[in-house]
Amino acid sequence: MNTALQDRTPIEKTTYRHFEAEPVTGTFGAFVRGVQVADAIDNGELFAELHAAWLKYQVLFFREQHLSPEQHLALGQKFGELQKLGYVGSLEGHEGVWVQEYPDLYSGPVADINWHSDSSFRAKPTRGSLLYAHAVPGGAGDTVWADQCAAYADLSAAWRNFLDGLHCIHDNLANNPYRVLDQIGGKDLANMRKYLPPTEHPVVCTHPETERRFLFVSELMAREIVGMSQAESRAVLEFLFAHQTRPEYQARLHWQPGTLALWDNYSTLHRGIFDFGQAHRLMHRVSFNTGWIDAQS
Ligand code: SIN
Repeated sequence: MNTALQDRTPIEKTTYRHFEAEPVTGTFGAFVRGVQVADAIDNGELFAELHAAWLKYQVLFFREQHLSPEQHLALGQKFGELQKLGYVGSLEGHEGVWVQEYPDLYSGPVADINWHSDSSFRAKPTRGSLLYAHAVPGGAGDTVWADQCAAYADLSAAWRNFLDGLHCIHDNLANNPYRVLDQIGGKDLANMRKYLPPTEHPVVCTHPETERRFLFVSELMAREIVGMSQAESRAVLEFLFAHQTRPEYQARLHWQPGTLALWDNYSTLHRGIFDFGQAHRLMHRVSFNTGWIDAQS
């Protein structure tokens, strides 16, 4: 097949022993019903089922969850090594529970936080995250994910062959260097570059557990394709940015207080929808690493 959007059978509902996973799109994402995720901290069988569902659906959504900060951290720790430092501060006394509170978090516009995979500019990018809603603006502030396995699978053989073997430089300044320079000044910027240098990753990676191939570039972090001229690199990346976020690959979550999302940060991209002006939105996030992707670079 040489055109995008291959025929495919939509993913199906799965009945596990402890819960049901109901797909939210044709390719990925599921609502998990009938379980309190916190129970998985001490229940190995439940955790194994949740882990399997996470790998299968890539993004899981849970409603009406009761999760204390301690439980949030304990759950993250079951999935991988906790990421203690983030781009926002932690809840007092709970290092690793990052507090994403709006409008406090950003005084300026945040709409330039585009599609991304968290910390892909690191040698060991974030493996996954557990984002938990405390306060949600009415009808606004959704989050959207995009399935990068399906996006890769739908490319023509010619494009897949072309991309396999290419590497991309991921840079946390790929999109906003002038704004950051104006905000923090050249000296701090130079210091930041020492701690967060750009990193190279394959454009297409193989998932460590499912062995599915997925695209690993994003509009926010991808700076350039290694070995290409600027013009060539822009042309390839612009095509990928448009392709990988088509509505066919998207799952959108409308948050409620108590909603929890767990996502695979390798094989999906995500983007907050900042359509809520100065309204209050409070989320707690725990992120974890497993340190695999750098082995492929
Ligand atoms: C993000 O990681 O970009 C934020 C997602 C969100 O708060 O919706």
